[in-house]
Amino acid sequence: MPQIDQNGRLAHLLTLDGLGAARISDLLERAAALQQGAAPAAHCRGRTVANLFFEPSTRTRASFDLAAQRLGCHVLNLDLDTSSTSKGETLLDTARTLAAMGADALVIRHKEAGVHAMLAEALPDTAILNAGEAHLNHPTQGLLDALTVRQRHADFSQLHMAIVGDLKHSRVARSAVHVFSQLGMGELRLVGPDALLPEADLPGERYTDMDAGIRDCDVVMMLRIQKERMTAGNIPDASEYVTRYGLDERRLQLARKDALVMHPGPMNRGVEISDAVADGRQAVIWKQVENGVAVRMAVIETLLAGRPA
Ligand code: CP
Repeated sequence: MPQIDQNGRLAHLLTLDGLGAARISDLLERAAALQQGAAPAAHCRGRTVANLFFEPSTRTRASFDLAAQRLGCHVLNLDLDTSSTSKGETLLDTARTLAAMGADALVIRHKEAGVHAMLAEALPDTAILNAGEAHLNHPTQGLLDALTVRQRHADFSQLHMAIVGDLKHSRVARSAVHVFSQLGMGELRLVGPDALLPEADLPGERYTDMDAGIRDCDVVMMLRIQKERMTAGNIPDASEYVTRYGLDERRLQLARKDALVMHPGPMNRGVEISDAVADGRQAVIWKQVENGVAVRMAVIETLLAGRPA
């Protein structure tokens, strides 16, 4: 991945896979410092960050927008329905157009794998931030998830974490596995129906029985069914799914007493998570959202450091 430049600097954020615990910890520590009132770095002031979301988003898009504004950047939210991509312009030409106008960073969500790496190769002078790539990467989500757990547990080595649901189609799950494995999570369990478990390349013990999968866990991360990435015949029956893989208060009692309940959002209440659990005292779902702004500030700040204005 061409995200580290010749000087060893993080130039783009494409994936957490192989990023390394030290770089990840630096980003988390900077995010925590910004949350505690540290002043944003001066080098971001007056720089331009453009958001290009080719797939829907509420949290990621809004928090990148707020993060850039809080750093003193100009923010351009390109409306892709009325942009020239709808007239057949290639993604590369759209990105080149924004770079030519002086965009310092492009925040991109796209359903195709590999487009972020392609743009990072083609436009080395513009920081490329992956805001969601196919089923493969959602690095800032992984970082905010790690920050959320770290706020409760300084040491991950004794923790057991279950990621439950549609892992096969989930970039959130992959980035979570990337970040938590590098930060030394004691045990990572991947829980879901056989058809929705990920490829063998992803580390973690597989469970198809949710009760066994979440038993004694310190962290339970629930995922939604990614219907948009499934073919019609593969979508599980909703009522059977709720019975076997829905997290309700009864099932949550199988986890540790104070287990954290996470969800990246958007939630399908009453499917993978009940209202009582989503709104319960163990849920840190809104904390995850809150942390997303600080994490994205830290990432933008880091990527713009050392880049000529
Ligand atoms: N978690 C997440 O990526 O949410 P959005 O799709 O709303 O950005």
